[in-house]
Amino acid sequence: MDQNDFAFFTELLRRRSGLLLTQQKTHLVESRLAPVMRRFGFKDSAALMRELRHGHEALAAAVTEAMTTNDSAFFRDRRTFEEFRDIVLPELLINRAASKRLRIWCAACAAGQEPYSIAMMLDDGKLLAQGWTIDLLATDLNSQMIARAEEGVYSQFEVQRGLPIRRLVRNFTQEGSNWRISESLRRMVTFRTFNLLDSFGWLAEMDVVFCRNVLMYFDQKTRISVIDRVADIIAPDGALLVGPAESILGLTIAFAQTEHAPGLYYRAKPMSPQMRHAVG
Ligand SMILES: C[S@@+](CC[C@H](N)C(=O)[O-])C[C@H]1O[C@@H](n2cnc3c(N)ncnc32)[C@H](O)[C@@H]1O
Repeated sequence: MDQNDFAFFTELLRRRSGLLLTQQKTHLVESRLAPVMRRFGFKDSAALMRELRHGHEALAAAVTEAMTTNDSAFFRDRRTFEEFRDIVLPELLINRAASKRLRIWCAACAAGQEPYSIAMMLDDGKLLAQGWTIDLLATDLNSQMIARAEEGVYSQFEVQRGLPIRRLVRNFTQEGSNWRISESLRRMVTFRTFNLLDSFGWLAEMDVVFCRNVLMYFDQKTRISVIDRVADIIAPDGALLVGPAESILGLTIAFAQTEHAPGLYYRAKPMSPQMRHAVG
C-alpha cells in the first residue's frame, strides 16, 4: 500500500472508529483487509482504496470492522472481576435495595466473554431468584462479534482461556468440539452493535460500566470524549472499570481512582459552590 493510500485509510479509520494506526502497522492493515478484498472482489488494495474514496458505505463499514482487535477471554484480568464482586457489587446491592434493579453496560464486549463472565458472577449471587432486575447491556462496534456473542458458542481454546472447569461444566453444554453458553445466562445479556463515537443519548443511567481494553486503541481526544460521556450516563455512585493498562488519570476530573483497586473508578464528588469559589 502506498503512503497516500495509507494516510487516507488511517484517517478514514480514525474518523469512523477512533482507532489509531501507525506507519509500522502497514502489514497489519494488509493482512486484515485481505478477507474484505476477497469478499468484495478487489484485486489489490489500490482498487479497494479507490472505491473507499468514492464513499462506498458498506465497504467502509466492513474495513472498519476488519481493523478492530477482538481478542478477549472469560474473566480476563481476574482482579477486575474480583473488584467487581468484592467492592462494587456489595455496595450497589445496599444502595439499590429499594429498587432491586441494577444496570450494567459492557461497552466493548467483543464476542461476549466479558458480559457472560459478569452474568456468571451475578448468577453466583442468585440475584434474579431474590427478585432483582438486572439490565446487562453489551455493545461493540463490530457486528460480526455481536452476532457471535448472541449465539454464545465458543471453541475449546476460547473456553480454556480463563474459564474454570467447574463453571464450564455448570454453564455450558458441549456441541461437538464447541461449547454453548446456557440459555439462562444468554437471556441475561442484551447485545447491540454500537460505536463509542456515537451519541450515548439512548442509554439509561448505568450503575456499572465496563469499558476495558478498548480505550488503549484510541487517540487521547477520543479517550477523553468517551470517558466524559460515560460520566454523563453513570449513576452518582456508579463504578467504571477499565483495563489494567488503561489508566484514565489525568484525562478527566469526572472520575477518581479507588485506592488498591487498579482500573476501578468512581464518579468524583462534584465540588460544592463554596469549594469552587475557593479554588477559582
Ligand atoms: C480487545 S477487545 C476488548 C474486549 C473486552 N472488553 C475485553 O477486555 O476482553 C476491543 C473491542 O473494542 C471494539 N471497538 C473498537 N473500537 C470501537 C468503537 N469505536 N466503538 C465500540 N467498540 C469498539 C472492538 O470491536 C473489539 O471487540
